[in-house]
Amino acid sequence: MGVRLTWYGHACWLIQGEKVRLLIDPFITDNPQAKVSADELDADYILISHGNFDHVADAAAIAKRSNATIISNLEIVNWFKTNHETEGHALQMGGGFNFPFGRVQLTTATHGSTMPDGSTGGNPAGFLITLEGKLIYNSGDTGLTSDMKLIGERHKVDLAILPIGDNYTMGPEDALYAVGLIKPKLVIPNHYSTWPLIDQDPQAWAEKVKAETTSDCIVLMPGEDFELAD
Ligand code: NI
Repeated sequence: MGVRLTWYGHACWLIQGEKVRLLIDPFITDNPQAKVSADELDADYILISHGNFDHVADAAAIAKRSNATIISNLEIVNWFKTNHETEGHALQMGGGFNFPFGRVQLTTATHGSTMPDGSTGGNPAGFLITLEGKLIYNSGDTGLTSDMKLIGERHKVDLAILPIGDNYTMGPEDALYAVGLIKPKLVIPNHYSTWPLIDQDPQAWAEKVKAETTSDCIVLMPGEDFELAD
């Protein structure tokens, strides 16, 4: 088995390797796109990009039930430890750690990171995830930044997961430019059409990516999964 990814809508992903389940930004219960219930999701690790409700809402319940370790920045890991007695591994921007399953490194993102109760969630982040020999860059919620150029120069990204929703994050035009900087083999859009405010046409965006960059692009439906091929 290679790396299997499932998109639950918005920015919530399950990434499964041979022996590990990584859940990213669990937002299920109040996510209009989610077709599962949070009770059905299990994880070994939960990666949290920043503190906003639409990225952390179901994290505590899933972490406690499945005994998952939360991987995030120090402020968010400590917030979950204090409020929900969860296990955690804290990183900070630019720092990575070689976990038993592979590597997770935090990348910079331009966004907010306030926790649902108003506490600080430190700085927002994205992730570089190395799993089964694949490198996945999940930018988190962010605007277009020149840091993405460094990621493209420094790494061979197999898959980039980027927001295209506009309003809170990059919109389609900036995200298209970001693809040109990151140069991933494959890109998948997320963080769009959850609510009318961030409605976008992902198929039109995918056509532009294929026509105007060297990257391939696929669009998933919420609940759909796919395997990252060699
Ligand atoms: Ni968000």
